Amino acid sequence: MFDQEGDLPPCNFVIFGATGNLATAKLLPALYRLELAGRLPEVLNFVAFGRRPFDDADWRAHVRELLAGQADGAVLERFVSRFDYVCGDQDDPAAYERLKETLAKPKLGVCSHVVFYLAIKPGDFPAVIRNLDRSGLSRPRGLHRIVVEKPFGTDIESARVLNELLHRHFEEGQIFRIDHYMGKETVQNLLVFRFANTLVEPLWNRNYIDHVQITVAEAAGIGSRAGYYDQAGALRDMLQNHLMQLLTLVAMEPPAALEADAMRDEKVKVLRCIRPIPQRSVHAHAFRAQYRVGTVAGVQVPGYQDEAGVEAGSVTETYCAAKFYVDNWRWRGVPFYLRTGKRLKEPMSMVAIRLRHPPQQLFRETPLEALEPNWIVLSIQPEECMHIELHAKQPGLGMNTHVVRLNASYRGADDHPLDAYEALLLDVIEGDHTLFIRFDEVEWAWRVVDPILKHWAGERDFIHAYPAGSWGPREANRLFDAEDTEWRNRV
Ligand code: BG6
Repeated sequence: MFDQEGDLPPCNFVIFGATGNLATAKLLPALYRLELAGRLPEVLNFVAFGRRPFDDADWRAHVRELLAGQADGAVLERFVSRFDYVCGDQDDPAAYERLKETLAKPKLGVCSHVVFYLAIKPGDFPAVIRNLDRSGLSRPRGLHRIVVEKPFGTDIESARVLNELLHRHFEEGQIFRIDHYMGKETVQNLLVFRFANTLVEPLWNRNYIDHVQITVAEAAGIGSRAGYYDQAGALRDMLQNHLMQLLTLVAMEPPAALEADAMRDEKVKVLRCIRPIPQRSVHAHAFRAQYRVGTVAGVQVPGYQDEAGVEAGSVTETYCAAKFYVDNWRWRGVPFYLRTGKRLKEPMSMVAIRLRHPPQQLFRETPLEALEPNWIVLSIQPEECMHIELHAKQPGLGMNTHVVRLNASYRGADDHPLDAYEALLLDVIEGDHTLFIRFDEVEWAWRVVDPILKHWAGERDFIHAYPAGSWGPREANRLFDAEDTEWRNRV
């Protein structure tokens, strides 16, 4: 974590779901960029495990094609030469025997431990875990690492069952529950902003903060992921994990040290303090909706119901918003508004913190009457910036003001951001858990959203709609405690 260059241990790295969405869009490009940066260990053998009837040569051609736009020839050749391909079904024990044989003949050198990366549908986790055990690949116990993507379970019960299954074959120190938002530099910068500046800490509480907004807006739709997404929805796909992690980083107390358990202890304390939402008041705390046909960035796009693979009459939410209270000394009474959605007007992820109005309305009779509150804005992507908005008098005779920004952005236009997966993949190879999720975090996060899920599961005939390319439905504003609150739709 926070990542010093150093020698990484030799390792075998197996990617389950190697031809799937996640591997294609995120893992392979990230691993390639690590190769390009010279950050991969000398002895690192990749095994791609997938259903497509490839042999090693087909697979390498596939990777070359996938990375063609960004690749340097020699580095790309080195990268693809690290790979073997095992063709097989995740349910088929014979495929694991082939995997075992492949691991026994490593390309670049012998290594004792294996990373198993499950880049597959959550429903397939149990089959892979059981087959790893049956084939003896998970043994000796304590040696290998297993990386599990989110969502971890589909509710609190299924998360517990999955966790028990994992613990039957792996120790906690071997398990890496990944939430790639924790690997984003702008997210990590939240910790630096909060805990490296004495200016910030005195303001960071209920005395000065009116409310917190956490937005992860996407302009993209569901692509070819209907099979997964239609079962999951925005609450399980994004809010229970990525947005909840952001909430914990905003709300947590300083950890005793910047190491795995100290960090995770503080995050869990926040989740434990979130006021439970009673079933009868889910409507006052959570809102869901689905996109209809609309225009995004000038292009007409279909509604969710018309996406390939979506079940007719589906009420799966592609937008959700929720209000939470963290009932502790620091935050009691401060609403945290979270929202996320697909096919919104533009991609924009940020934490926006609105400060309270000054106690005295000194400028009531002047044009300052309609004074905007102060904001602290931590923008995560695509724009990476951080600023505090304050009022200053405009030069001149009148008592007019304008908003000025104290800019604390930390990256110049020419600096290349490290992708979240690059950082996290190095951590897995190194065995650093700091940015990974402990099971009690997962469990508490499910506990927070479970009443909402249960309530929505009972409402099968209606869901609010919003046109693709909008900022979501106006009705979501019903969550706000105060009339002067609005979603902030700009960085
Ligand atoms: C994933 C979700 O975890 O995060 C996707 O499953 C979503 O639905 C993605 O699009 C967003 O990640 P990022 O890094 O592009 O913000």
